[in-house]
Amino acid sequence: MSETQIDVARVGVVGFGTMGSGIAQVVAQSGREVTVLDLDQDRIRRGMAAVASFLDEGVSRGKTTPDRRTEVLARIAGVTDAAELAGVDLVIEAATEDPHVKCQILSTVTRSISDTAMIVTNTSALSVTELASAVPNPARFAGLHFFNPAQLMRTVEVVRALRTDPAVVVRLCGLVESLGKDAIVVKDRPGFLVNHLLMPYLNDVVQEYDDGLASAEDIDTALTLGLGYKLGPLELLDLIGLDVHEHATTSAYEATHDPRYVPPPLLRQMVAAGFLGNKNGRGFRHAEEIG
Ligand SMILES: NC(=O)c1ccc[n+]([C@@H]2O[C@H](COP(=O)([O-])OP(=O)(O)OC[C@H]3O[C@@H](n4cnc5c(N)ncnc54)[C@H](O)[C@@H]3O)[C@@H](O)[C@H]2O)c1
Repeated sequence: MSETQIDVARVGVVGFGTMGSGIAQVVAQSGREVTVLDLDQDRIRRGMAAVASFLDEGVSRGKTTPDRRTEVLARIAGVTDAAELAGVDLVIEAATEDPHVKCQILSTVTRSISDTAMIVTNTSALSVTELASAVPNPARFAGLHFFNPAQLMRTVEVVRALRTDPAVVVRLCGLVESLGKDAIVVKDRPGFLVNHLLMPYLNDVVQEYDDGLASAEDIDTALTLGLGYKLGPLELLDLIGLDVHEHATTSAYEATHDPRYVPPPLLRQMVAAGFLGNKNGRGFRHAEEIG
């Protein structure tokens, strides 16, 4: 085991939803013990079921073995009391994207863990530097932005907030690499690096579609075949969720007043009309006619 792996032997994850379950699985696969905190036993059961189902799929595709599935699940413990995070070397906060919820979690969690344990947030759109104000020693606080699904996506943005200790950034990069992923160190700004570029691109595409430039299918085909992207922008929007993108780009606009982040009118209308993308089967690339 490398020095970094010993350095971060036990990990706490807060929030056992989409991201928390993926992150917990990835960390457990690296051989570490993971304690996941959520609000109640029902959410813990759902989080464990999500990990089990992802691993089952891996077994059926021959990507993992039944023994390894059992081992990985055994390394994950679900808890509902923050006191049970005592002894972890790192806490990854992956709870609901709400600054009040996150600040409350950060101040509770820091009371349960040692002064030297690192704390990171997986926020997509909030300022890591502003969230750091809820942590007594903000030098040990940073962003660790995994992409969805965390089990498959290789990039992890390591977000350096204004007061993050550079040594913490180095340790986090070592951790990310030990998870088999690529760490990209970025400054703290709305959308960090990837989403900072992605949001205006998606907004432009929605506007071009609304202007009647081409059909949804043709826009996606042009971008996948023309630029070698794996997914077309409208397929990607359906996957992300139109409501999720609208929320993120609105937050980025409020933080920057950069007009590139203003949600296009059609996006706002579609969300208001209940077109949320793949999660409810109504989006740009679904059969139902838009407009
Ligand atoms: N879903 C994505 O595509 C994606 C991608 C990258 C980053 N993120 C970020 O990851 C974070 C989590 O997003 P998600 O999609 O997994 O959300 P989610 O709604 O699927 O899960 C959030 C979980 O947090 C739990 N939670 C809420 N309050 C809590 C508290 N006080 N203590 C403990 N647990 C609490 C909820 O019960 C829920 O299980 C957000 O900050 C989001 O912006 C999401």
